[in-house]
Amino acid sequence: MRTPYYESTMHRQIREKRENRRDRIRNDLELYGEEVLNSEEMRQAFEQTHHTWSTVGEHTFRVAFTSVLISYALKKLNIKVSVPAVVVGALCHDLGILGRKDKFSSAKEMSIEHPKDSVAVARELVGEMPDKTEDIIERHMWPAGQSKAPNSIEAAIVSAADKYSAVKDIIKGSEVKETGVKYYVRDEKEKIRNLLKG
Ligand SMILES: [Fe+2]
Ligand SMILES: [Fe+2]
Repeated sequence: MRTPYYESTMHRQIREKRENRRDRIRNDLELYGEEVLNSEEMRQAFEQTHHTWSTVGEHTFRVAFTSVLISYALKKLNIKVSVPAVVVGALCHDLGILGRKDKFSSAKEMSIEHPKDSVAVARELVGEMPDKTEDIIERHMWPAGQSKAPNSIEAAIVSAADKYSAVKDIIKGSEVKETGVKYYVRDEKEKIRNLLKG
């Protein structure tokens, strides 16, 4: 017989803390990234495969969540971080990759060119942006894609979160392969979508 699970006070507190943090991240994403989240581009992002097992949309959400989470941690250490810039930068960083098969002739070309295209998409969605936000998007591929190095704490956050999330996409994908959990990716996509819907 399965042992019943009793949640201890400590575990409950940890769970509640996590839930509160998730809500706070979600609120910040909606507050600062509304135009991007409600865009046709973001809808399309969930249709395009990315990092073998993921989609551009799922990857984008992982990057955005992780970036905001790192921003909170740094703010706690009294390091000044612009959360609005991080949100817009993270949500838009890979939107220029949409339609990659038609746009780019090689993976190399894609990795060099898509950050500029992402800036163009971001401009269309949110209008004029501070230079800092454009730099976050344009420099996120560093040190790959012949990208210039991040030039702000916000750009460094998104660039680091991008790498971390890319690895996560691939590892989660390998779990799908190894365990044969066929609908894992689909469920994950739904989970992330629902998280935003609330
Ligand atoms: Fe990218
Ligand atoms: Fe990315």
